[in-house]
Amino acid sequence: MTAKNDPSRRDFLASSMKAAAITGLATAAARAAASARGPAIAVSAGPTPRKIGPDDKIRFGLIGIGSRGQGLLDVLLRQKNISVKALADLDPNNRKAAIEKVKAATGETIDVYTEPEDYKNKLLARDDIDAILSATPCWLHGPVYLACFAAGKHFYGEKPMCIEANEADALVEAQKKNPKVVGQIGFQRRASKLYIEGIKRIKEGEFGDLIDGRAAWNNYWGPIGRPGEGARIWLGRRKSSGDWMLEQACHSWDVISWVTGEMPVAASGVGRRDVFKEMDPQRDVTDYYIAHLVYKSGLTVDFEHSWICPHKDDGKFTGVFERFAGSKGGISFGEGSMYWRDPSMPPEQIKVDDGDHTVRAIESFLNSVRTGAPNVCTTETSRLATYTGLLVRKAVDERRWVKIEELL
Ligand SMILES: NC(=O)c1ccc[n+]([C@@H]2O[C@H](COP(=O)([O-])OP(=O)(O)OC[C@H]3O[C@@H](n4cnc5c(N)ncnc54)[C@H](O)[C@@H]3O)[C@@H](O)[C@H]2O)c1
Repeated sequence: MTAKNDPSRRDFLASSMKAAAITGLATAAARAAASARGPAIAVSAGPTPRKIGPDDKIRFGLIGIGSRGQGLLDVLLRQKNISVKALADLDPNNRKAAIEKVKAATGETIDVYTEPEDYKNKLLARDDIDAILSATPCWLHGPVYLACFAAGKHFYGEKPMCIEANEADALVEAQKKNPKVVGQIGFQRRASKLYIEGIKRIKEGEFGDLIDGRAAWNNYWGPIGRPGEGARIWLGRRKSSGDWMLEQACHSWDVISWVTGEMPVAASGVGRRDVFKEMDPQRDVTDYYIAHLVYKSGLTVDFEHSWICPHKDDGKFTGVFERFAGSKGGISFGEGSMYWRDPSMPPEQIKVDDGDHTVRAIESFLNSVRTGAPNVCTTETSRLATYTGLLVRKAVDERRWVKIEELL
């Protein structure tokens, strides 16, 4: 990431803020609209899931089985004592691929639902399904996961947990009202030994009081959600993806809120929604932005998110990381490297057999369903990531400092 004292960055920020002061005033109406949160969503206790013994089959239903869903299904089908009963998806090619995978792995012929509301009215209404694997476009996450709680079905549902504040609050409430349902959100880093160990060391004070956080999600492999990608254009539409602050940066917010245990108190940001307009005039996601987040403890986090990185840059522009430095030293997640303020201490490396985070996350979910072991990625922690995304999105939209109270 660009050094904080880099003059070009300071100039950029200063001029951006000046522009924001002018254009920001003109967007009062947009601000009022953006801050509107939906009404509270009522939730209630659903049926209690059946008890599943260590050798019983967990019977699955699949909801949304596109690019990510196929990958999750591959992992699921490699696990022991799994059965797949049915799927709901709108896309014939994705349905066909999933049907064939299940047939090849378990020998089962599964029931298939094809209409938008079938996941709720037909699939979740079945008595012979214990758990759901779901990877729909982001706007559907809140409705699908609320419906899972209402139907008493455990679920592994992709991130972000949802893209609306009222849904995030309702999902936390729904989990409280349905304590036996395992509702795990797909922030797979939560199941990573490397991250778990790094977070433990932070909490034990090895790096002192945290002062400086830096995180980034900088890609060259985009943009995704282009015309020509069929229904996957949803990724280029804010209404269905929530924009990158919800769809993709939610992974970073989740790690940061794991470290802090709380939401930021405020955020500021600037960005560009026009960088791929020539390719797709209707594209309205923020393909480049930077943001700053401030926490109650005094930690500040500097964040970059870009889809415009050049290829073959040897990591000069690209990279996904979360780094934290405190009074005694710093840690870089991802590689698990640790560095110290004491010049006599050499850098260290967290050495764990980390494996594939998604595999670990699915294994952890199945274990929670069977044994009641704590869920590694709950609605409560995932709510922090949704709120952080909404906060940063508002700050970038309005080019100003936004306090979290404005969303609560
Ligand atoms: N955890 C991760 O690392 C990770 C990685 C990639 C994607 N994701 C998340 O996975 C989700 C899916 O992303 P994707 O790239 O697979 O998208 P995709 O468009 O490839 O797949 C979405 C699927 O949902 C289906 N769908 C849409 N509406 C539906 C409905 N009403 N009922 C049932 N199915 C419906 C579509 O037909 C499609 O098959 C997103 O939320 C994304 O953020 C997570």
